[in-house]
Amino acid sequence: MLNYHAINNPELTQWSFTETKFNPLAQGKCESVMSLGNGYMGLRSATEEAYIGGTRNLFVNGTFNRFDDLEVTELPNAADVTQVELLIDGQRFSLETGSVTDYERTLNLRDAELTRSFVWRSDQGKRIRFEFKRFVSMHDLHLIGMKVQLTPLDEGITLRLASGINAQMSNSGSQHFHEGEKRIFDKKYLQLIQTTTESKVDFVMNALHSFWIDGVSAEIKPQMEIERRKMEMAYSLDLQAGQTLKMQKLIQVHTSRDADVEGAGELEKLRAHSLQALKKAEEAGYDQLFEQHRQAWASIWEKYHFEIESEDSFDLLALRFAIYHLMVMTPVHDRRMGIGAKGLSGEGYKGHSFWDTEIFILPFFIYSEPKVARTLLEYRYLGLEGARRKARENGFKGAMYPWEVAWPSDGEVTPVWGAVDIVTGKQTKIWSGFIEQHITSDIAYAVWHYYQSSGDQQFMDECGYEMIFDTATFWASRLEWDEEGSRYVINEVIGPDEYKEHVDNNAFTNYMAHFNLQLALEYYNELKTRNPELLSRLESSLNLDQASREWQEKADALYLPKPDERGIIAQDDTYLQKQIIDLAPYKSQTKVGTLFQDYSLDQVNEMQISKQADILMLFYLLENRFAPELKRANYDYYEPKTLHDSSLSFSTHSILASDFDDKKLAYQLFRRATEIDLGPHEHSSDAGIHSASLGGIWQCVVMGFAGVRMLNGELHLHPKMPDTWKRLSFPLYWKGSKLKISITEDQVEIKTDQDAEIELVIYGKKTAFTGQLQFEMIHI
Ligand code: BGC
Repeated sequence: MLNYHAINNPELTQWSFTETKFNPLAQGKCESVMSLGNGYMGLRSATEEAYIGGTRNLFVNGTFNRFDDLEVTELPNAADVTQVELLIDGQRFSLETGSVTDYERTLNLRDAELTRSFVWRSDQGKRIRFEFKRFVSMHDLHLIGMKVQLTPLDEGITLRLASGINAQMSNSGSQHFHEGEKRIFDKKYLQLIQTTTESKVDFVMNALHSFWIDGVSAEIKPQMEIERRKMEMAYSLDLQAGQTLKMQKLIQVHTSRDADVEGAGELEKLRAHSLQALKKAEEAGYDQLFEQHRQAWASIWEKYHFEIESEDSFDLLALRFAIYHLMVMTPVHDRRMGIGAKGLSGEGYKGHSFWDTEIFILPFFIYSEPKVARTLLEYRYLGLEGARRKARENGFKGAMYPWEVAWPSDGEVTPVWGAVDIVTGKQTKIWSGFIEQHITSDIAYAVWHYYQSSGDQQFMDECGYEMIFDTATFWASRLEWDEEGSRYVINEVIGPDEYKEHVDNNAFTNYMAHFNLQLALEYYNELKTRNPELLSRLESSLNLDQASREWQEKADALYLPKPDERGIIAQDDTYLQKQIIDLAPYKSQTKVGTLFQDYSLDQVNEMQISKQADILMLFYLLENRFAPELKRANYDYYEPKTLHDSSLSFSTHSILASDFDDKKLAYQLFRRATEIDLGPHEHSSDAGIHSASLGGIWQCVVMGFAGVRMLNGELHLHPKMPDTWKRLSFPLYWKGSKLKISITEDQVEIKTDQDAEIELVIYGKKTAFTGQLQFEMIHI
């Protein structure tokens, strides 16, 4: 159970959360939600002393490797540097023996620091105070810093401390590295070099330990060990009662994919650079390195400064938690990399990116730091290579984006086999990589969203138009002619609701494909006059003249499901004819997927049960294509049938509830979204945090409670804060200007330091201002 009040440090109120009792049976929760990182690498917060059930993970973004032909590529779990084995008077220190008081493990979001402290009484009755600290530097992307401090309180102890680099790691058994080379320089610098087996990425890790006793530097002679895939230093010493031993461990992590290291592709250069970097870090020392890291985070928090005054202090903490993890998982340093569905916090989803990025996370960056949004879209631009390959392999034209993506040129990397089918006992086939195709238009939508909100013409000229044209070409080749209905249809797909497989005309997919085709046409026609030179360049590689005629013909005749007499749009051709069952027992589940303890996926396919927001997602994305009453009728129809078995679901329902002015429901659903990772369920985050949901939390607040929307290229604001909130303020970028929006119970204020005139639509009324604007809050 996590405690959200800064128990011992009021300064960290709404900035930290704490585990107050160690539970060896539920280690995954804190390992994930307290994980550290800097977009370059992510370090799961496993305890220094190892326990059965713990998972030690260190991932470096973009270093994908494929174990063998029968598995898909994944982010390899690099060597562990965090384990420290402590023998006290010859006995292994473990929280499962002896007794513990004053236990506290805290993630301080403000400084991105993990701390753990307690007093442990050994079986012999000796009390020892322990303190641990850890950070993954935001200042130096390659640096990890750790501190371990021990003070025997009653009597002296004999201590043996063993720590090093342990490459006896795997991804659930799949070993991604060759044995590699190990070397200890000057009896203190450990260096381990490993290369991934298939992608041939070199990893270079260097580590160093330093000691102080009562603040005085201590030279402790190590026993050096090099074993198979492991190197270690063991230090033995006696400590008197009251004496404090401090160990500092500094680690440098580099790979041959590092774009910031000149000559990173040459192993000799990389290893020399890495060792040198460690020596420089040694000179600075933990405290100075930590201070640089803290300052880097201080500027992050200044940039993304949020204020929420709520009756429940948890609300602001939850938002900060979301922003913290978005920072930790996003590779702002390198456009060849994306954001994993579990960030860099666990093995779940193998480090792959999904539509989670474009639809759930990207809006946060579009409106808070547009240049990062651009980097993420450039990753998809590079991904055109893989997308074109996927289209070709499937007999289509243009760019068919993979449902799951790793290295941009890889193409489709979705695994084929998943969880057990409770009826047959076999593994269920995962069809998403073959037929969950809406991802292609989701990406086109994201390009449009970014362009409309940022006005970044350069991005469009260099990347965006090409992406939109070639995705439209995919759709044009994908549509099927339905002779009987005299229309184009999209058969045999999975929509966002993954509990419905092999369906025809999933409304979300059809409408979004239509959007994609129309957008391509609009931009094609626009470019004819605005930038004919660019158009002719694209023309020659994309055959636009011919393609645009097809876009037009197909968009005109594409079937777009319409509401029935009750105002309900069918999620797909057969959804509304399927059996309805009482979902009450599953709706109140504390763990997702309980339905599958009673039914197989094939059975669920025949029932009106949705895993997550599907058509409701469409209403949010293409907001002004659907009337408010229609949305409400569909919300009332689909919400009881939606299990929210995907973490992507609550935020969409919350935003729609805000749109319907149902503030209470919107807030309840926001809280459900925040509880996905931070809630009491002990195993919710075992495989890693839920990236999309974190973007969704931000969207609930900004798009939902503040009512921010981009509609027809205009910025709309329609605030309706929860009744328990007194104040909300946040930064927002709009067409290159940074705005600060502050909402109180009575008033809304928008400020900007820039000179440009800002045009926007407030509560449906167009207005413009420079400098500052105030208006009254309309109460619902
Ligand atoms: C959801 C998808 C999502 C994926 C990764 C699945 O459970 O149904 O919509 O993209 O998880 O988060």
